[in-house]
Amino acid sequence: MSKEITLSVIKADIGGWVGHSRIHPDLIERAKEVLAEGQKRGDILDFHVTAAGDDLQLIMTHTQGDDSPKVHQLAWNAFEEATQVAKALKLYGAGQDLLSDAFSDNVRGMGPGVAEMTFVERKSEPVIIFMADKTAAGAWNLPLYRMFADPFNTAGLVISPSMHKGFRFEVQDVKEHKAITFDCPEEMYDLLVFIGAPARYAVKRVFSRNTGEIAAVSSTERLSLIAGRYVGKDDPVLIVRCQSQFPAVGEVLEPFAFPHIVEGWMRGSHHGPLMPVALHEANPSRFDGPPRVVALGFQIADGRLVGPVDMFDDPSFDEARRLANQAADYLRRHGPFEPHRLPMEEMEYTTMPEVMKRLGDRWTPIE
Ligand code: F6R
Ligand code: MG
Ligand code: MG
Repeated sequence: MSKEITLSVIKADIGGWVGHSRIHPDLIERAKEVLAEGQKRGDILDFHVTAAGDDLQLIMTHTQGDDSPKVHQLAWNAFEEATQVAKALKLYGAGQDLLSDAFSDNVRGMGPGVAEMTFVERKSEPVIIFMADKTAAGAWNLPLYRMFADPFNTAGLVISPSMHKGFRFEVQDVKEHKAITFDCPEEMYDLLVFIGAPARYAVKRVFSRNTGEIAAVSSTERLSLIAGRYVGKDDPVLIVRCQSQFPAVGEVLEPFAFPHIVEGWMRGSHHGPLMPVALHEANPSRFDGPPRVVALGFQIADGRLVGPVDMFDDPSFDEARRLANQAADYLRRHGPFEPHRLPMEEMEYTTMPEVMKRLGDRWTPIE
């Protein structure tokens, strides 16, 4: 089949069980019912509903391209219906990411996170969908760099003829809403100038320079910028195509063997390690964290989602989890001090302005 298909992952936190730790199974069931109706109507080809921490994840395939009003409407309906269930159970923060009462055309800018890619299905199409909780979109910068630009991670960059030309990175400035592309390996150092500052610059897409095809796409919505106030971290998702002209499955997973430090965790205001976990362990508890990531693998067959396979459910990630816990202990001992606590301008949940105002008169000039 040479027709294009679209893989859409749309997610939202619409109520936690208990607190902000996980999704109640009844919400998953309700969302499944709504998507099954959409599938019957022909809006989507296939779907899988899951959760990472307190975020409900709708994984869908269809033939309507990115930003399809029909597909976005369907996702919005699923979130609204599941929110009703969350409200009946009085789950915590029911409906929190649905920032508008009325849907118009597209969920972008309305609270949910979105990662979508449209491509011609290959003879065999392995994809991995990463879903993180208690962190922000820039969390993907380091692993994406490793997957697509670092030969110490991805052997194929050196030894596979179909990858040797490298990859193109599209980077977004999430504060000023502009984008730029970098061709790697030539522009690696320029790329790193920006993506090394993940609170502001986030990799949105990666393309093969051999074929021009899309290789990866992330969600880069920043809820606090949309809402103008704290409404939780974005808890981003990432889709990566694997094998052949793209990094192998193992090369795509390898960066997560190092639990790098990301922003998020308690009150979206702390640095902590990103712990790779199996789905059944994706329920943040300690200090509302530490931040974590799950990886679900699918083969796509004529738009059907054949999976999921829980890729981090593997003892080879045990040491990453152990290191993450050690890093978590170490950082926690800083309590309210930086660098555990985020720098003031990055804290999305803060009493600082109030305290500053209240104590404004008590500051005296230093002679
Ligand atoms: C972080 C997160 C939690 C909450 C915290 C306070 O992304 O979701 O750490 O920030 O539990 O939540 P509220 O203010 O809703 O009581
Ligand atoms: Mg939550
Ligand atoms: Mg969350």
